[in-house]
Order: sequence, then structure tokens, then C-alpha cells
Amino acid sequence: MGAILGMGSTHWPPMIQPDEAKPWPFLRTLARDPRVPEALKHAENWPEGVLREYGDDEGVSAHREHRRRLVAGFCTLRAEIEAFQPDFILMFGDDQYENFTEDIIPPFCVMAYDDLTSYPFKDGRRGQSNVWGEPADHPIIIPSRPDIAKWLARRYLEEGVDMSYAYKPLHWEGLGHAFVNIQMYLDYDRSGFRYPIVPIQVNSYGSKIIRNRRAINGAGQEPDPCSPTPKRCFEIGQITARILQESPWRVVIYASGGWSHGFLVEKNHCLWPDIPADRVLAQQIREGREAEWKHLTVAAIEEAGQQEVMTWICVAGAMHELGQKGTVVDYVETAGVFNSGKCLAVWKP
Ligand SMILES: [Fe+2]
Repeated sequence: MGAILGMGSTHWPPMIQPDEAKPWPFLRTLARDPRVPEALKHAENWPEGVLREYGDDEGVSAHREHRRRLVAGFCTLRAEIEAFQPDFILMFGDDQYENFTEDIIPPFCVMAYDDLTSYPFKDGRRGQSNVWGEPADHPIIIPSRPDIAKWLARRYLEEGVDMSYAYKPLHWEGLGHAFVNIQMYLDYDRSGFRYPIVPIQVNSYGSKIIRNRRAINGAGQEPDPCSPTPKRCFEIGQITARILQESPWRVVIYASGGWSHGFLVEKNHCLWPDIPADRVLAQQIREGREAEWKHLTVAAIEEAGQQEVMTWICVAGAMHELGQKGTVVDYVETAGVFNSGKCLAVWKP
């Protein structure tokens, strides 16, 4: 009988680059999003917390502490994984117009690739430098288990889930940021982290998946059809737990996603996240009430800019099915300069 460890974390891309590069989307939104009102282009009109984070160096100093907490959180997650000794990590992650684009957007897709080697720094995707000093063509090697991925896709279909699967990437060499960033952050000290990953893409971005790439933060563009519903994500998680429970494997089920993203929160002019909405999620985990997430609506998720929480709802479904209680390892807020609320959590067996 299988054993399952639940886990979730942010995949905050600016952890890749040095603080001095200021890779936070806030600066880009401020400079280019036509929906930012004139008044909010001037710092004197920002909320107090945003001003404090921004400081006199556009956030460089404040990000040092933001990063320190996140690196410490990933260190804890890594220790939990090593103590658990999984056969593989089943990772739910979003695709932000990386592998899936105009030709197809599957709601969910199991990636059964033979080779998960990824190149996150290629073509200046993550700026000119990274904190590890790795060259632009540096490969991040992730062990794959296409045999398990194929088995899993078959089991989903047998259980009535109309699951997509792929044997090779469509538009992206290796894995997108939601998956490869977790591999890099669990191995932030580069001492080596060699657990296989079975990736499942979730179309978290829904109505903004294509339009966000046509214009900054989707400004002025028609919405795309929506993401899968929270209810369905929760059910997928429950079914995943049942399938894995009857398997011979020890599995980490991992949600890769930041919480409210400032650039998705239109009521906040795409500048700062919906902090109250994120605090509710953190409290629900602490109190063992994350099953309530299945009652969220796509509209509520989109209003709060919590699109990436869809991956967390998949894991919440699995944990509910198994009766596992979650612990918030850390919940790192930003007033706005660092875009998203960032939670790191574990659900031990
Ligand atoms: Fe993402």
C-alpha cells in the first residue's frame, strides 16, 4: 500500500536571479500596464507597506529577507522529502504559455516524457545571471519515470477522469517554470536532489492563459475560456490519492504555485496581491479546513488573483481523502513589490 506526503510551495521566479537584478513584475506593471492609474505611478500614493518594501532601492534590500525566508522554507521541505524517501514526486504545476499555447490548452495533462532535462536560463529567459553562476545553457536534470506517468494516465482514465497525456513537449524544451523552479529551489545549495518527478500540468490561468501573453497582464484583451473548477481540481486530488494508495509507491504529492498574484488582481490595478484572501487560505490549512476550497468559484479565484491555487486545491483534495492534516511551514507576504503571497506547507502521513 502506498504512502503519501502532501506538500505545496511557491515557485517565485525571482529567487533565480540576484536581488540587484530587481526581477519583480511590480516594476514592469508600473512602467507598462495601461490600467495603472496615473496617481499610482507615484510612490507617495502607495500603501505604507509597499513604500517600505520599495525603500530607496526599488525593493533590493527588502528582497534579501523575503528570499532568506523562502530559502529556509524550501530547506525544511527538502528535509521532509529526504526523511520520507519517496519513489517519486507527483507535481501539480501551472503552465504559463510555455508548453501549451494557441494550438491546445488541456485542463490537466500528465507529462510522461522520457527526458525531463530543462534549460531554465536559456535565451535570457531569467535575465543575464543567476545566483548559482550557472551558464545560460546549463541543464537542470530531473529524473523521469515515464512508466509511472503512463500508468497514472491510464488509471485516471479508468477512474473516469478524461486525462490528457504527452510523451514529449510541444513548445518548450523540458519542463516549464512551475516544475523546474521547484527542483532548483529544493536544491538551492546545489548539493544534489535526485528524486524523479511526474509532472501534471493544470490550466490554472484559465481566462488569462493566452491573453496574458498578448498584452501586459492581459490588458484590453478578450478572455480565454476558464480553468477547470476548484470542485474538479479537488476531485482530481481525491482520485489521485485513491489511485496512489493502492500503488506500491511512496509518493510526495506537490502543489507548485504562488497565491494571490498582484499582476492578476484587477481590483488592485494589477499592482498588489489580495492579502486578505491569502490569509484566509493560510488559516484554512492551519485549522484543517482546506476542504472548503472545493466550494470556491473560478470567479472568486480570479478576482483574488489566486489562479495558481488551483494546483493547491488538487493537493487539498488528496489530503482530505487521506485525512492528513497540514502545517504551514511559512507564509511569506508581500505588500506588493514582490507580487505574490507565498506559502510553504506540508501534510504529513
Ligand atoms: Fe506560475
